[in-house]
Amino acid sequence: MNSNDYAIRLERKDEYREVENLVRESFWNVYRPRCSEHYVIHVLREDPAFVKELDFVMEKNGKLIGQNIFMKTIIEVDDGRTINVLTMGPIGIAPELKRQGYGKAILDYSLEKATDMGFGAVLFEGNFGFYGHSGFDYASKFGIRYHDLPEDADVEEFDKNFRPKEKLKLPGQIFE
Ligand SMILES: CC(C)(COP(=O)(O)OP(=O)(O)OC[C@H]1O[C@@H](n2cnc3c(N)ncnc32)[C@H](O)[C@@H]1OP(=O)(O)O)[C@@H](O)C(=O)NCCC(=O)NCCS
Repeated sequence: MNSNDYAIRLERKDEYREVENLVRESFWNVYRPRCSEHYVIHVLREDPAFVKELDFVMEKNGKLIGQNIFMKTIIEVDDGRTINVLTMGPIGIAPELKRQGYGKAILDYSLEKATDMGFGAVLFEGNFGFYGHSGFDYASKFGIRYHDLPEDADVEEFDKNFRPKEKLKLPGQIFE
C-alpha cells in the first residue's frame, strides 16, 4: 500500500448493496461460521443515531475495498450526567487486501473526522492487536462499564438474498 493508491470518501446510497457485500466478504467465517455484519450495517444506516457524516468507504482502482461507520451514543455517568460519544463499526477491508495497512488508514482517517466533529471518545468491541496501534485502550481503564449486544435473529433470512457461501468453523472465531 502507498498513500496515493486509494481514496477515502463518504458512502453513496447507490452503493449500499456493494458495501454490504464487501462487509460480508470481510467478516465471513472470521468471528463465527457465517457472519452478521452485512445485516448490521444494513439496519444501522436507518437508525437515527447513524452518523451520515462519518459513513466512509475506501476506493482503489475504482473498486470499494474498505468501509467504516459510527453511531451516536451516550455514556451515563454515575452522578447523572450524560456524555455524547460514538460507537464504531463494522469496519472491514476486502479479504485479499488485509494486513497491508488499509485498515489502519481508514480507521485513523475516520477518527480524525470524528474528532473534528467534536467527539471525544469512541467505544466498541474489537481486536486490541489492531486498534491498539491507533491509541485505543480498554474501556475498563476509564471506569466505563459495557453491556451485552442485542440479538441478530433476522440475519439468516437477510443473508438468503446474497450468493451462497460455505459456513466454516475456524480457529479464532468467538461465536458459534
Ligand atoms: C481488522 C481489519 C479491519 C484490519 O484491517 P487491515 O487492513 O487488515 O489491517 P492493517 O494492515 O491496517 O493492520 C495494521 C496492524 O494492526 C494489526 N492487526 C491487523 N489485523 C489484525 C488482526 N486480525 N489481529 C491482530 N492484529 C491485527 C497488525 O499489527 C497490523 O500490522 P502488521 O500487519 O504489520 O502486523 C481487517 O483485517 C478486516 O476487515 N478484518 C475482518 C473484519 C474485522 O475483523 N473487522 C474488525 C472488527 S473488530
